[in-house]
Amino acid sequence: MDEFASFNAQLNRPIDAKNVEFQRMGRLKHIINAAQLTPELLQTLCRTADSIRRLAKTRRGNEALKSLLADKRAMLYFTQPSTRTFLSFMAACQILGLTCNEVRDPKTSSEVKRESRTDSIRMFSSYFDIIIMRSQIKDFAECCAYLMNRLEEQEKRSVPVINAGSGSDEHPTQALLDYYTIDRSFDFDEHSHSVESRLPALRATYPDLVPGVEHKTYAFCGDIGRGRTVRSLARVLAQFPGVSLFFVSADHPDLMLDDQLRQKLKRAGANVQEFHSLEADVNGRPLIEQIDCLYMTRIQREHNSESTEEELKQLDLSPFRLTLDRVHRMKEYAPILHPFPRDSVIDEIPIEVDNDPRAMYFRQARNGMWIRAALLVHLFDAADRLHEADSAAR
Ligand code: CP
Repeated sequence: MDEFASFNAQLNRPIDAKNVEFQRMGRLKHIINAAQLTPELLQTLCRTADSIRRLAKTRRGNEALKSLLADKRAMLYFTQPSTRTFLSFMAACQILGLTCNEVRDPKTSSEVKRESRTDSIRMFSSYFDIIIMRSQIKDFAECCAYLMNRLEEQEKRSVPVINAGSGSDEHPTQALLDYYTIDRSFDFDEHSHSVESRLPALRATYPDLVPGVEHKTYAFCGDIGRGRTVRSLARVLAQFPGVSLFFVSADHPDLMLDDQLRQKLKRAGANVQEFHSLEADVNGRPLIEQIDCLYMTRIQREHNSESTEEELKQLDLSPFRLTLDRVHRMKEYAPILHPFPRDSVIDEIPIEVDNDPRAMYFRQARNGMWIRAALLVHLFDAADRLHEADSAAR
């Protein structure tokens, strides 16, 4: 990626040094990596998302939401396939009144005439107020953020950049919606359909249970090595006290936790353990029966080399498949998440699991729309106006 060679020095810095440049006056300026999602910011965005979904229940509330960012335009630049991230960002824009446009196939843009990606990005910033982008190139979104910062220093037009998935590296807004789903699942009120919290009843069965994301055991299962959603969410969860992160994958170097991430998570204070089956023995009992949350993932075949393709064909993937029997042995409050798409051939979560109350993956995808709307509100500094509208509607 020679056109971004001038950003190499900035790319090769510790993440904390980078992230200072992705914020402005206590708010996000760009969202590029999951390390920007501090516990305080996560709480702010979750409560903003709650306000948006409350307002969206009424016509008056919807009108207030639609006027919030009606003067803004968004470019969705998605050159890697996407269903959920693309559509939920588009829906989030529509909720808030932003006008959207898109480039999904660079063959339809002047990149076919050898226009550089840098020029494309600058053009987007000329016409739009935010760039939401997905690329298979690991550092592309980060370089675009540096480009925008450089333009701002030169007092030229500059807009926020949202990383909507960068290669196999990061997917920070997926981590955001995953966190929001977990936060709601461990609230223990949402699904009770009664005024009383479910917590006292659950405590009778699980005496150590506490609300919140803290002091929980999370299992990630499937393609750990190449899953950008796993990488981003694990980093977010590792910030919280008392968190155990169990990684369950086949014994293959491409699928297992990489050492860099392992060390980062341990340094953050998480109890990191690795297993090769959902039935693995943990202190005398199967893992599946002990976890508080299960995050399933698809084997990402698109990253396979020819030799990996052959090696993976030989693997028995049944220890990583969520059967109905396994679901029934999980804790009754433990949410099952999956960033989707799921693989309809490997069937890591068969459709018969969908009706179990622990299956959260469709809610999780819808939560993406609300929390991405909250992120847009935050980036455009419209939270005060939103909360005023929410208070007026109550
Ligand atoms: N979870 C996720 O990123 O889905 P898409 O690839 O469909 O956007």
